[in-house]
Amino acid sequence: MPSPTERREALKAVFHDASGCTRCPQLAATRTQVVFGAGNADAEVMFVGEAPGANEDRLGVPFVGQAGKLLDKLLEGIGLAREDVFVANVLKCRPPGNRDPAPSEIESCRGWLSRQLELIEPVVVCTLGNFATKLLRGEPVGITRLHGREEVRVLGPRAVRLYPLFHPAAALYTPSNVDLLRADFARIPALVALGAPPQPELEGGREPAGPPVPEPEPVPVPEPELAAAAAGAAAGAVGEAEADAPREPDPEPRLAGMLADPASAPEPEGAPSPPAGQLGLF
Ligand code: URA
Repeated sequence: MPSPTERREALKAVFHDASGCTRCPQLAATRTQVVFGAGNADAEVMFVGEAPGANEDRLGVPFVGQAGKLLDKLLEGIGLAREDVFVANVLKCRPPGNRDPAPSEIESCRGWLSRQLELIEPVVVCTLGNFATKLLRGEPVGITRLHGREEVRVLGPRAVRLYPLFHPAAALYTPSNVDLLRADFARIPALVALGAPPQPELEGGREPAGPPVPEPEPVPVPEPELAAAAAGAAAGAVGEAEADAPREPDPEPRLAGMLADPASAPEPEGAPSPPAGQLGLF
């Protein structure tokens, strides 16, 4: 079992690699920075949202707008703060114009999320909204049917308690969803208290069972579906009305303070530097 420091260092190495990712040429060209994720590298609870919006792209921190404020309140309601959990997204880069993530982008980016899950080893993984839920469940069933129903799922080498939740942004537009979110959040502590679910057998004593974790190699891939996906999103093709309006323009300078970490370890010589402040986020 790695120590918190070992986890953090391992996560920093992944962040370092991810920060130069060019797998999605359009996103790499239009982003300000990769928004890797923030929080506790040793967290028992991990939240997975959709993708950074304008503010997240600018500050390098996930969930810094109105949806983030609601997330903070919901966490507070169950006695947790951002520093207790780890928050990441399906996509680490902002889709321009806040369009939906394209299928090819989700595919290209999933390796980073897999590495985060592998290193943090959360007990509970809360998927926020449709994109994260569909990705991590590997099925097209939407959040309206699934929210608040935990299930044990094997993600890469490990079993976790997967817990689909409405995206907080959905509640910004439909206030009754706040009550649903609150009720669903209220069960998180009990899920954590259950501890990690039984883990898959190790094959041959070494290799983990479960689907392979895609390698997050930063290789550019062509994205022929981009235009079609963007057009589909513009036409409201998400599939579920409550789906997500997740990335609202709402600067939140107070979180900018989190970006400074004078104690960050120096980067290895010759390696491209990730945005320095983000290293202080976990
Ligand atoms: N901000 C994020 O970082 N992710 C979302 O899914 C929405 C807003």
